[in-house]
Amino acid sequence: MGEWARSPQQHLAFLEQHLDLGVSTVDHANIYGQPACETLFGQALKLAPALREKIEIVTKCGIELGANSGRVAHYRSDRRYITETLELSLTRLGVDSVDVLLLHRPDLLMNVDEVAEAFLQLKQSGKVQHFGVSNYSASQFALLQSRLGAPLVTNQIEINPLNLTATEDGSLDFMQQLRVKPMAWSCLAGGRIFSEQTEHIRRLRVELENVRDELSADSIDQVLFAWVAALPAKPLPIVGSGNIERVVAAIESFSYTLTHEQWYRIWTASKGHGVA
Ligand SMILES: NC(=O)c1ccc[n+]([C@@H]2O[C@H](COP(=O)([O-])OP(=O)(O)OC[C@H]3O[C@@H](n4cnc5c(N)ncnc54)[C@H](OP(=O)(O)O)[C@@H]3O)[C@@H](O)[C@H]2O)c1
Repeated sequence: MGEWARSPQQHLAFLEQHLDLGVSTVDHANIYGQPACETLFGQALKLAPALREKIEIVTKCGIELGANSGRVAHYRSDRRYITETLELSLTRLGVDSVDVLLLHRPDLLMNVDEVAEAFLQLKQSGKVQHFGVSNYSASQFALLQSRLGAPLVTNQIEINPLNLTATEDGSLDFMQQLRVKPMAWSCLAGGRIFSEQTEHIRRLRVELENVRDELSADSIDQVLFAWVAALPAKPLPIVGSGNIERVVAAIESFSYTLTHEQWYRIWTASKGHGVA
């Protein structure tokens, strides 16, 4: 949103188009956008406050950027930081509460008891309905969960054929074991898959185009979303496009089911070698 140079009215129209398509969850973070995406979103929501009841707002905190302060960017998860940062997000969004608050990155210095206290305080105040994490390993997720009275509702992680980490490091397996649905960010590798000309990406693009033709899909975007959706942990894809036609295409991708062989052909094209 911070890059689209749209008016609040245009942002509102984009939100309403999503609702008409059945997409009601918006993903924010306190650090997104110049100007802040939360502020832009809040300005749009102010034009139609009744929409608050129809949407779910996810936001995140946990990354302290160093910009303009002369300090090095670092992760934070202390109680005061979490509660104060959430207050700022609520003000920017112009809402009384968010549906889900995620810790954006694992803070290697995290005091889990302090995080649990902060979450409890925010829950009791009604300012946050549910909590989750982002970019956490399985063990980091389990550690934080062990101190909480309520279940973490998601782990938001990068999932696309250019980054197979989540399929290999146990984080998806753990979500599946707990029956917690991960949110998938950058299913299209942030758009790199369309533009970059490395050998790796070209090889992958050829295979995505082959599968697109076999499925009679409109675009390789749809193949990528179908590839992510095929994972047994049932990730919930976050669409990063500012183009409503691409959002429609993403939704239509749910009607495509890849065969095992098609899924592994894309995996093989990314790896550069077969399974054996
Ligand atoms: N938790 C985290 O650490 C984390 C990290 C990164 C992102 N996220 C979240 O995940 C969301 C999605 O991530 P993302 O933005 O990286 O998503 P993405 O869906 O992988 O990439 C979106 C980008 O791809 C471009 N694109 C889409 N289809 C295209 C096509 N056919 N040809 C050319 N370009 C195309 C879009 O441009 P157009 O706008 O022109 O369509 C947009 O710039 C973010 O908005 C954010 O909410 C979370």
